[in-house]
Amino acid sequence: MTDEFTQFARDLREHVDGALDRLLPPASAAPARLHEAVRYSVFAGGKRVRPVLVVLAGETFGAPRDACLIGGAALEMAHTFSLVHDVLPSLDNDDLRRGQPTVHRQFDEATAVLVGDALLNLGLQTLMEEPAAMAADRRLRASVLVAEAIGTHGMIGGQMADLEAEREWPAAPEAALDSIHERKTGALLTAALRVGGAYAGVRRAEDALLLTLGRCVGMLFQIGDDILDVEGESAILGKTAGKDHDARKLTYPSLHGVDGSRTILAQVRDEAMTLIEELPSSRRLFRSLVDYLCNRDR
Ligand code: IPE
Ligand code: IPE
Ligand code: MG
Ligand code: MG
Ligand code: MG
Repeated sequence: MTDEFTQFARDLREHVDGALDRLLPPASAAPARLHEAVRYSVFAGGKRVRPVLVVLAGETFGAPRDACLIGGAALEMAHTFSLVHDVLPSLDNDDLRRGQPTVHRQFDEATAVLVGDALLNLGLQTLMEEPAAMAADRRLRASVLVAEAIGTHGMIGGQMADLEAEREWPAAPEAALDSIHERKTGALLTAALRVGGAYAGVRRAEDALLLTLGRCVGMLFQIGDDILDVEGESAILGKTAGKDHDARKLTYPSLHGVDGSRTILAQVRDEAMTLIEELPSSRRLFRSLVDYLCNRDR
């Protein structure tokens, strides 16, 4: 039986992809090689978790689905930028992403750098301009939330710290690891929930709840990602398993072991479940999301 969150995500998928297709330049637009590569990276079979979170949080507080789909597509562009750059030879150096050769392997490294730049830029521009019917102050709020989440105190800073830790493990590895995960992965997932809230015009206390819940979602997501690197299969993951160990990454399994990681995962799960009780609606769907994050195989 398919769980509720998986079904919800499945139902949204074609709508997310439709929004992306409308927002991205056609592959034939000049420079065609760049736009072809942009579409190659976006339409490669990502799970679309961030757009789904925008819709989930947005609808929980009363935002229209169409608006959330557009904002979600913009977040997916920014997320795809992070994936394209994450696998570059000077970062994680991987040949496989979303089940196909990485952009720098399929095209070339310069194209991959520019694809990332293009997706980040178009993602932010989209958030500023779209959805056109959304009040401008809410669009501005969403844009700032995402720009901050990506910035040097967010994902980009987290990616830097991740690479530095690979070269030399930090002195207090536990705290450093939590901080890396919160920034490199948690920040954008948290922003996805908060963008949904922004489109609904939530009050400060509701935004704070989405922020706290987002932190749990981010930790669950990246601890899960770290475990999958150890236990998952490349064919199912669509990326090369076992890379973290080879690169001597600071990860949950490398620091706490797989069993220890699962214990922490269960603790964060409980924390998230408690927070979900404070939501005004969609509580079952959120609980199903949390279970999905604890059990996913890709
Ligand atoms: C992978 O993200 C990178 C991390 C932040 C761990 P996803 O697991 O969401 O990747 P896609 O979008 O499904 O390919
Ligand atoms: C990447 O974390 C986070 C971002 C892409 C910002 P990982 O390096 O663990 O992601 P995967 O495992 O390559 O997808
Ligand atoms: Mg990485
Ligand atoms: Mg990586
Ligand atoms: Mg990983």
